[in-house]
Amino acid sequence: MEFDFTALEPEGRYRLLTNFVGPRPIALVTTRSAAGHDNAAPMSFFNVFSHDPPIVVLGIQPRLNGDEKDTVANIRRTGEFVVNMVDMALSQQMLICGLGFGSEIDELKMAGLRAGACSKIGVSYVADAPCSMECRVERLIDYPRRVLVLGEVVNMHVRRDCLDAEGRYVNPDVYQPIARLHADNYITSDRQLVLKAPPISDFANPPASRRR
Ligand SMILES: Cc1cc2nc3c(=O)[nH]c(=O)nc-3n(C[C@H](O)[C@H](O)[C@H](O)COP(=O)(O)O)c2cc1C
Repeated sequence: MEFDFTALEPEGRYRLLTNFVGPRPIALVTTRSAAGHDNAAPMSFFNVFSHDPPIVVLGIQPRLNGDEKDTVANIRRTGEFVVNMVDMALSQQMLICGLGFGSEIDELKMAGLRAGACSKIGVSYVADAPCSMECRVERLIDYPRRVLVLGEVVNMHVRRDCLDAEGRYVNPDVYQPIARLHADNYITSDRQLVLKAPPISDFANPPASRRR
């Protein structure tokens, strides 16, 4: 089958893109409300796009009534947010944070999550999360029904047990993020595998300049 995206209605585009581009990592995004509450919302239109500069991107749509989500309003006002990664232990709390609470609700408290104080920005991070990235807005790209938030990571908290003994590389037995597939379907990373590319010389003789 073939789908003409220039003719397809938004719901159809959403269905196809989210059904087939996956698994998508989940950012549990924490922000600070104008009244000082901790706001939290999961976003799976999310990924890291660069390490130099260190840039993460979120795609946030308005609510069904057209209003901006609290996450966007807070990010516009403060220029700051935290991306907390989500594993199975946080899955239920993540879903609670995805419910449409008003901006006056402290969503970390509502979900039973502990708040930690960030070092470089005035937002709380999820102390129970395997890792959390403190971000400052690098730029916002506004579309009529979407804002792309480019954030520069300025600080990262990693739970000690998610790292190896030297504190350098991930411990894959402990850090097993969940990711979103289609609809309410998710996947966890408890069946990891190692894939190594064969040497290029198995296929061709590369020029000397390209040999490692
Ligand atoms: C797993 C998951 C992923 C989600 N991803 C997104 C997303 O990428 N963009 C978005 O606008 N909403 C997304 N949502 C919906 C928001 O989390 C939801 O609208 C939330 O209530 C927004 O909260 P806020 O008003 O506090 O910002 C997602 C929900 C779930 C459960």
